[in-house]
Amino acid sequence: TWTPDSFVETTVAELKAKIGDEKVILGLSGGVDSTVAAVLLHKAIGKHLHCIFVNNGLLRKNEFQSVLDQYEGMGLNVKGVDASARFLDSLEGESDPERKRKAIGRVFIEVFDDESHLVEDAKWLAQGTIYPDVIESVSATGGPSATIKSHHNVGGLPDYMKLKVVEPLRMLFKDEVRRVGASLGIDKELLGRHPFPGPGLAIRILGDITREKVAILQEVDAIFINGLKEWGLYDKVWQAGAMLLPVNSVGVMGDERTYEKCVALRAVESTDGMTADWVNLPYEFLQKTSNDIINKVRGVNRVVYDISSKPPATIEWE
Ligand code: XMP
Repeated sequence: TWTPDSFVETTVAELKAKIGDEKVILGLSGGVDSTVAAVLLHKAIGKHLHCIFVNNGLLRKNEFQSVLDQYEGMGLNVKGVDASARFLDSLEGESDPERKRKAIGRVFIEVFDDESHLVEDAKWLAQGTIYPDVIESVSATGGPSATIKSHHNVGGLPDYMKLKVVEPLRMLFKDEVRRVGASLGIDKELLGRHPFPGPGLAIRILGDITREKVAILQEVDAIFINGLKEWGLYDKVWQAGAMLLPVNSVGVMGDERTYEKCVALRAVESTDGMTADWVNLPYEFLQKTSNDIINKVRGVNRVVYDISSKPPATIEWE
C-alpha cells in the first residue's frame, strides 16, 4: 500500500541511484509542488541540488523575502534572483492577457537560462510536475514548471532545457503531494498555501501594469489574505485573491469628491481549479475587510465581492 513515508524512502533511493553526484537545477515558485520536489531531492543529493527562486515583481506583498527566508531555514541551497525590473519593463503598456502571459514566460526563460549557466556543469533540470499537470499539460499550479511547459514551443529551446529532466512527483495527486510534504517535515502553513498563478498579480491587474498598480494590489491582497487567516477562513477556501479593475468610480471622503479605483475580492472552493464555486464568506468579514481596504489603501474607494462560479466565470479575471 502507498504511504507517504514509503514513497519518500523509495523515491530518495531512486533519485540517489539515478543522479549520483551530478548537479541538478530546480526552479522554486514558493508553491507546494516545487517545494516538496526540492526537499525530496535535497534529501537525496544534498548540496548538489541548486534551487533558483525568481522574483518577477508580481508576487504577493513581502513574499519574495519571506519565502526565501523560509527556504533557507529548511536548509535548501537556494539563490534568490530579483528580476522584478526586467519583468515589469517587459510588461510596459501591455494590456492583453495572453500577451502579458507570453511576456512573463519569455522573461522567465531568459532569467532562468542565465541563472542556470552560473551553475557549472549542471546535468539535470528538476520540476515539481504532478499527475494532473501530466494529463492536462497546462498546469494550474503556477510557477516555473507551468511557465516552462506552456512556453517551450516558442522559438528555439533555451540551453537549460537541454538538461535531463527529473520529476519526482509525476505520479502524485495534490493531496498526496501535501502528505509527502508533511512526512518530509515541511511546515504546515507552507503546505496549506493557496494556489497562485505563475504570472502572479499581472493577471489580476486588468489592463496595463504599472509599479503603482502592483503596489496597490499587493496592499489590498495582503489585507484580504491576512484577514482570512485571522478569521480562521483561510483553510476553508481553495484560492483567494483580489483583482484591480480598470474602472474609476466616484466616492466621497470628508467633503471631497473622489474618483478612484475599484477592487474585486474573489474566494473560491474547488478541488482542482477546473470547476469552482464562490465562497459564502460571512458578511461581517466582508464588511471589516472592505473598511480596512478603503481606509488603508490609498487610491481605492470601492470594494466588490465576486459571486460568480466557474464555469462560466474563470477563477482569475484574465
Ligand atoms: P482559471 O482562471 O483558468 O484558473 O479558472 C484556474 C487555476 O489556474 C490558475 N491560473 C494559472 N496558473 N499560469 C499559472 O501557472 C497561468 O497563466 C494561470 N492562469 C490561471 C488560477 O490561479 C487557478 O488556480
